[in-house]
Amino acid sequence: MIIKNPDPLDFSYVPQNLRFRETQIDTVKKLMLEPLKAGVCSNLVAFGDSGTGKTSTMRYLIREEKRFLMVYENALSFGSMRLLLADALSRLGRITGTKNIAYPDIFRAMKRISQEKGRNIVLIMDEATNIIKFDRDGVYNLLRASEIYGTPISSIMVSMEDPSVYMNERDRKSLGVFSTILFNRYSREELTRIIEERARISLEYGSYDQEILEYIGEIAQPFGSARVAIELLQKSAYACQYRNGDRMENEDVRTAKSMINPYVTESKLGELDSDELAVLLAICRCLKSEASTDMTCVLREIRVVNEQYGVDAGESSKVYRTVKRLETLGIVEGKIVGRGDKKGVSKMIGINDVPVSILEEKITSFMSRTH
Ligand SMILES: Nc1ncnc2c1ncn2[C@@H]1O[C@H](COP(=O)(O)OP(=O)(O)OP(=O)(O)O)[C@@H](O)[C@H]1O
Ligand SMILES: [Mg+2]
Repeated sequence: MIIKNPDPLDFSYVPQNLRFRETQIDTVKKLMLEPLKAGVCSNLVAFGDSGTGKTSTMRYLIREEKRFLMVYENALSFGSMRLLLADALSRLGRITGTKNIAYPDIFRAMKRISQEKGRNIVLIMDEATNIIKFDRDGVYNLLRASEIYGTPISSIMVSMEDPSVYMNERDRKSLGVFSTILFNRYSREELTRIIEERARISLEYGSYDQEILEYIGEIAQPFGSARVAIELLQKSAYACQYRNGDRMENEDVRTAKSMINPYVTESKLGELDSDELAVLLAICRCLKSEASTDMTCVLREIRVVNEQYGVDAGESSKVYRTVKRLETLGIVEGKIVGRGDKKGVSKMIGINDVPVSILEEKITSFMSRTH
């Protein structure tokens, strides 16, 4: 068993420290929380791609900030702003009994609660894209609540898109000023650091090494998503455990990736000619114990494949071209890397979408059908 504590591998886990989101957290504090201490209300939209830490940052703020009445709502659970606000009101401690409560009553009740408790309200509305798009009247009431009803409430709406994309000038004017905070995609290094932390607290010491974490970071990079990186770590660990391994290997990561995003399909292999299949098979064999390989190995392995299946994948220049084509088809990934001081560059080849053992099996069965 390499997993000692599965919880930190789960999505709902909020890490103790949220690294790489310091700028966003500081911006919320500076633009919203500090002014609200003095009773100045404002509204923010936090936006960014999936897995960029929006929800975690909000949960982190709720955990850290005790000076305000912080309320978290997921807008997807409600058909309208009014229902959402009625729920927020009950979370603040006021049981309304009726779902038909009107905006003025909601905000007046909130104002009273805030005065009783001596703290101002911060409403965090996660997954708010649809409510912003389709309940303009509701958004209008919320964003202008301090002005219209005198309620000391500030709000953060969380969305995947920048709302200015689907708002015209008139919408913006009627909703008043609100700031936006971008949650940018994580870099490869950041993703690796994030899963390092998770691996340390969830996996047995010695069941993984730095290289495997960096490999996961590299695969997750195109998504920029901590969610993808953590899911890869989780599934790799289970794949390793499933085969009774005591150490995570590249192949476990490929298994994990293929579960998340099955990409190299039978039909895709069916489109390849025999030279392409032969070269792909050679690449698979080179990748058995390596995260990526180079042309030297591929050219060596292709000779074995040629002999074994009686094919002729051609001279090295032709093999190069075939690799290039497999890259264009998105089946292998090529990368040019420096070989260190003035030694020039070389081409590294990897397959990240599917375990090479499974791919090898499929190619072998294709090739023995045609030869
Ligand atoms: N900076 C970080 N440090 C550590 N873990 C992080 C960080 N950012 C995100 N995570 C983790 O990544 C996962 C996804 O993050 P989160 O749910 O916050 O993303 P999101 O931006 O809300 O995505 P979505 O738009 O899909 O809801 C969570 O498990 C979270 O704990
Ligand atoms: Mg989220």
